[in-house]
Amino acid sequence: MNKDVSLSELTQDGIAAAYELINSAIVSYEGREVGTIASHDPNAPAENYSECFVRDFVPSAIVFLLDGRTEIVRNFLQLILRVRDMQEELAGHHNLPRVMPASFRVTIRDGKEVLKADFGDRAIGRVAPVDSMMWWIILLDFYVRITDDWEFAHSPECQRGIRMIMGICLRDRFEVFPTLLVPDASFMIDRRMGVFGHPLEIQSLFFASLRCAQTLLVAGKENEPILEMISQRKNNLVTYVHDYYWLDAARLNEIHRFENELFGKENSNAFNIYPESIPEWVAEWLPEDGGYLVGNLSPGRLDVRFFSFGNLLAVLFGLASRNQATRILDVFEMRWPDLIGMMPLKICYPAMQGTEWHLMTGSDPKNTPWSYHNGGNWPCLLWTFVSACLNLDRKDLALRAMDIAYHRLPGDQWPEYYDGRSGRLVGRRANYHQVWSASSLIICKKLVEDPSLLAKLGMTPAR
Ligand code: GLC
Repeated sequence: MNKDVSLSELTQDGIAAAYELINSAIVSYEGREVGTIASHDPNAPAENYSECFVRDFVPSAIVFLLDGRTEIVRNFLQLILRVRDMQEELAGHHNLPRVMPASFRVTIRDGKEVLKADFGDRAIGRVAPVDSMMWWIILLDFYVRITDDWEFAHSPECQRGIRMIMGICLRDRFEVFPTLLVPDASFMIDRRMGVFGHPLEIQSLFFASLRCAQTLLVAGKENEPILEMISQRKNNLVTYVHDYYWLDAARLNEIHRFENELFGKENSNAFNIYPESIPEWVAEWLPEDGGYLVGNLSPGRLDVRFFSFGNLLAVLFGLASRNQATRILDVFEMRWPDLIGMMPLKICYPAMQGTEWHLMTGSDPKNTPWSYHNGGNWPCLLWTFVSACLNLDRKDLALRAMDIAYHRLPGDQWPEYYDGRSGRLVGRRANYHQVWSASSLIICKKLVEDPSLLAKLGMTPAR
C-alpha cells in the first residue's frame, strides 16, 4: 500500500468501485429494477450466488434508499410478495405456511423472462430461510420511514404479507419459551453449525419484526387481536432474553456454581445447565466490564459462542438494554484483535475445532476452524458495527474498523469473507465481487457523514 495515498482519496476510489459493483449487480424483471445478485464472481463456488438473496439485498437496499433510488426497493418488496405465492405445496402438509424465499433469479426461456425462487427446496443442504420474511418486514419499515409511502405499506398486499409473517411467527406449536424455535441453518449461517433451536440472530430479527409490525399494521378492529399478541410476545421476549441470554462476569460466576436437577417454577438454573458444559475459554475471554448475549439456549445447552451479527442487531433494534448495548461494544473494544482483527467482523468467536468441528459441522470442509461461518471475518457485517458505534457515541471505534476495511476491501476485489484468527487471508473459498461486502462499506461512509440517518431508518437502541 502506497503510504502517500490519503484515506480520503482511498475512500473516494473505494466507494466509487463499490458503487460500480452494486450497479452492475442489479437484476431487472418486466422492465423494472428489482434487486441485486449476491456475487459477480464468474468463478463462484455455488451456482446460486448469481441469484438475488433477500438477506444480501438488505445492505444494497439501504444504499438505494439513502440515495433516493427508492423505486428499486419498492419493486423488490412487491416482487417478493408475488414470489411467495409460487411456493409449491408439500404433500403431507396441510396449509403450508407461505414463507418468503431465500433467493430468486430471472432467466430467459424462449425469449421470455422466467422467475424462479428458492424456498429452501433447492438450496444447498435444503435449509429453511426463516430470516427472509423478517428481513422483508424490516426492509418495508426502512422503506416507509425514508419515503413516507404509507399507502404502499397499508395496501392490501403488504398488509396480507405482514399478517402472514406474524401468523407464522406467532402460531403456537411446541413452544414453551417466548423465543422462536427454528430449524438448523435458517439464517445467514445457512450451513450446519450447531445453530438450531433458538439462535440469537433469529431472536434479534424476530424482535425487530415484531417492532416493525406494530407500526406497519393498520390500527383498527381487524388487527386488534394480533397487535395485542405482538405486544405481549415482544415484552416477554425482551424479559426472557435479558434474563437468560445475557452473559457477564457476574452471571458467569453464577452459572459456574449452578445447582442441577431442580424442579419447579422458581429456580436459578431453569435450563438445567451443567456448569461443566461451559467451555474454559469463556472465563478468560470475557472482559471484566463487558458482556454479551449468548448464541443459543435450550434445555441443558448454553451456547456461549459470541455471534457478532445477533448481538449487533439486538443493539440496533433495541432488544438489548442500553446498558447491555454499551457493554457489548466494550467487548468489541477489549477483544479487538479477536473480533475485528485484520478485517471486520468476526462472524462467530471462537471457531470450533477437532471433534467439536466434526460433530457440529458434519465435518464441513468449508467450515474448517477460522474459516467461513466457523470463525471467518465478514465485511458485510461492518455496517451493523458502525451503526451500533455511532448510536452509542463510539465514533472512534467505527472509524478504526472502517479504516481497516477501506485499506483492504477494494484492493482485494470485495471478497465475501476472510480466513484466520485475525482475518488476515482472503477466504479460501470466498467469492470475489461479493455485493454486500461493497454495499456495507458504502453504508458506513454515509452513516459516519450523517449519523442522524440511523434514527431516520428507525435503528435506535433501547433508552
Ligand atoms: C452464503 C451465506 C449466506 C448468503 C449467501 C449469498 O450461503 O452463508 O448468508 O446469503 O451465501 O451470499
